[in-house]
Amino acid sequence: MKKILFVASEGVPFIKTGGLADVVGSLPKYIDKQYFDVRVFLPKYACMKQEMKDKLTYVNHFYMDYSWQNMYVGIMEAVVDGIHYYFIDNESYFGGPKVYNDDPRYEIERYGYFCKAVLSALPLLDFRPDLIHCHDWQTGLIPVYLKERFQGNAFYRGIKTVITIHNLKFQGKWDVKTVREITGLSDYFFTPDKLEAYKDANLLKGGIVFADAVTTVSNTYAEEIKTPFYGEGLDGLLRARSRDLRGIVNGIDYEEFNPETDKYIVKNYNAMNFRKEKIKNKRALQEELGLKVDDRKMMIGLVSRLTDQKGLDLVAYIMDELCQDDIQLVVLGTGEERYENMFRHFDWKYGDKVSANIFYSDALSHKIYASCDAFLMPSLFEPCGLSQLMALRYGTVPIVRETGGLKDTVQPYNQYESTGTGFSFINYNAHEMLGAIRYAEQVYYDRKREWNKIVDRAMAADFSWKVSAGKYQEMYDWLIG
Ligand code: GLC
Repeated sequence: MKKILFVASEGVPFIKTGGLADVVGSLPKYIDKQYFDVRVFLPKYACMKQEMKDKLTYVNHFYMDYSWQNMYVGIMEAVVDGIHYYFIDNESYFGGPKVYNDDPRYEIERYGYFCKAVLSALPLLDFRPDLIHCHDWQTGLIPVYLKERFQGNAFYRGIKTVITIHNLKFQGKWDVKTVREITGLSDYFFTPDKLEAYKDANLLKGGIVFADAVTTVSNTYAEEIKTPFYGEGLDGLLRARSRDLRGIVNGIDYEEFNPETDKYIVKNYNAMNFRKEKIKNKRALQEELGLKVDDRKMMIGLVSRLTDQKGLDLVAYIMDELCQDDIQLVVLGTGEERYENMFRHFDWKYGDKVSANIFYSDALSHKIYASCDAFLMPSLFEPCGLSQLMALRYGTVPIVRETGGLKDTVQPYNQYESTGTGFSFINYNAHEMLGAIRYAEQVYYDRKREWNKIVDRAMAADFSWKVSAGKYQEMYDWLIG
């Protein structure tokens, strides 16, 4: 039995701010239990739901030198849905009201502590991983610490590491001197071939340099990040590591996202009966959100973190024009204030057409996937994207920009060949996006049978974890030997 340890800053069902948590929460379930024992390490955040905190039990604790202090490290555990989770408990670092903070220096201190604590805790568990699978910059110091202070100890020798980049935009950067003091790493590590990048210390870079393999969450993104536009300053390093870098597209949890059994939606449906049944969800949602109740209206959904990454400046630019069309738009999410206010404004201006829901709710997100006709995702960049996969699963036709995982998972509609699962545009241009939306409107209103065939193909596409989990397994096998 090969032992794999996931380490991440968030994971469903315990704590979630974005897609990272969905992946960390679902991928382990789909790794073959006959050959692999996959466990997951997370911080124990005070802001987790009480119901989840109640599941944790105490394992052990010790004290660890870190950042000139002697710090408490508690280890806790829980088994949920057959997956074994461990937690690092430290109230001073993880006791706040939010998962992440705005102070980058403090974030580096917290997650540096987390990395060192996870490695230090391993000998106290009856689980010695053959491979540690790290996710994003918060876990970037694990491969670094492993090569440094832990390598002298026989217990750690031979443990392999993988780092998966879910979003290259976030790297954990701060000045070298401070990071050296916080982490206790020696000068040796702060050179441009290791943790230093553009005069700063960079934790993600450390992870990429020292991990045995690097993955990201789609093929297209794996290629894109080797170019300056998408490379966020690390494209040179990623080109240099391209032999050890590969893209494995994310899946979604096909049990959690299943229109046939979904508990959140008014009317369950499937690929056979969506023509009659899906619409009942639309009616219910129009009523719930105070939109005009009308079966015929094309309803477009947008569920997203409201940040620049998601292409919302394009949406802002054409909102007035779009609202002249015969459509409804339902938005769900939180993020940058200017986007929150932009959607609130248009909700006020076009009350029966636009519904802005500036919060997050699992229930409402499922209702949107089930009720809408189309789903808009015009991202500037998108490592993988999960919402378009959820939309496909619910027969809600994605309208996307051709970048990253969106390009790999949504096949553009071709009216001559009758192929495709969605609509797409290439350039980051608001009117190109509007063109794609209007093309979708045209098919929806004037060629309903064609539209329904797009829905057929969307619902037949398979983005469960089956194929991708197999690829991770191959990689684990290859690394562990
Ligand atoms: C990040 C990326 C998103 C990806 C997710 C999970 O949130 O922005 O594209 O799907 O991580 O890998």
